[in-house]
Amino acid sequence: MTETYTLKIRRYDPESGSAAYWEEFGVDLPPERSVLDGILQARDRQDGSIAIRCSCQAAICGSCGVRINGKSRLACNTKIGLAAEAAPNGAIVVEPMGNMPVLKDLIVDMDAVHWKKVQRVVPWLLPEGDPPEREYIVDPESMIDVTQAMACIHCGVCVSACLSMEVDPDFIGPAALAKAYRFVGDPRDAHAEDRLLDLAEDPHGIYDCTHCFACVEVCPKDVAPMNQIMRLRRRATGDYGIKDANNGYGHEKAFTDLIHKYGWLSEAQLLPKSYGDGSLIRAQLKPAAVRELAAKFPTIVRGLASGKVSPKTALIHHKLRDQDEIRRIYDEVESKDDRLELNLYIIGEDGSEEGEAAGSGGGAEEGAMAEGGQES
Ligand code: SF4
Ligand code: SF4
Ligand code: FES
Repeated sequence: MTETYTLKIRRYDPESGSAAYWEEFGVDLPPERSVLDGILQARDRQDGSIAIRCSCQAAICGSCGVRINGKSRLACNTKIGLAAEAAPNGAIVVEPMGNMPVLKDLIVDMDAVHWKKVQRVVPWLLPEGDPPEREYIVDPESMIDVTQAMACIHCGVCVSACLSMEVDPDFIGPAALAKAYRFVGDPRDAHAEDRLLDLAEDPHGIYDCTHCFACVEVCPKDVAPMNQIMRLRRRATGDYGIKDANNGYGHEKAFTDLIHKYGWLSEAQLLPKSYGDGSLIRAQLKPAAVRELAAKFPTIVRGLASGKVSPKTALIHHKLRDQDEIRRIYDEVESKDDRLELNLYIIGEDGSEEGEAAGSGGGAEEGAMAEGGQES
């Protein structure tokens, strides 16, 4: 049944010389049709100058990314009825994606940000030696690990939602780093260590992600970019022992050591131990660490002045009562010879309907996300 919805669209025309403004349009559609259908109807019937990029209308081409009621999404994959239920004051708010310059109305400059960052990670295979006469033959099992990253449709929705990128526009970002894992995890690529070293040493690389889950939440294809970034980190530290200039290795070691020791985090010890590769003593001996700690001195003074931390609580942190249970988990994980990387993007048995890739149908809105992207 057709209903009337109000779309509140952010308009901007650089050629007009005017600032961006909001404009409302009434559209008539059944609730199961998409927000993109609404925008296209407004353009057809009311204002032919509304600019939106779209093609497949089926969550495949990745061109219709926008923000709907403040959340980054594909317009063609968002039902207008559900969007209206979540709309503030009844009007569905549609604006261009974030973290990218706006070219016109709902169209952003993907080249300036998204594609530039994808180029940054060398998004092609770098195999060793001469190419084979025919195709490279790989064991199908060995490709499972990268299937999730391969499902990316380059819509830029995760880039739009990334909180780190808001603070540091130079951050390589979720989509490009997921693409980097696609090649690091590919058995045909011979430069995984070089790639990881590069991404670990870059101040805007893998350690610039704050683990906020925003990209995981919004990705319409269940690529779970943050999980791919965590895989890059595990490969960098666990497989290659890369001790990076950004202190990512030291921070990770300090974090896990503190949990092993106390069962919960000692914030006061985390900073110095991070700079000392897990040791409070070593942090005092490294000139770079002393410099970093000196830069943090005002924060330390504020913590002491507010009573949030004291020298005693900094050095003597109490342990959880069931700390042995935490250590048992560590022992069990560390006793394994191989690290198990579960890729639950592919679910079910071979040949069953469930065995399809979880993100292949663009059905995230209906809650069809399955367990995509969760890891052990
Ligand atoms: S988890 Fe990392 S990459 Fe993903 S949105 Fe947050 S900061 Fe960005
Ligand atoms: S990772 Fe997901 S949200 Fe990001 S560009 Fe790829 S498909 Fe879009
Ligand atoms: S129009 Fe192709 S993904 Fe939306």
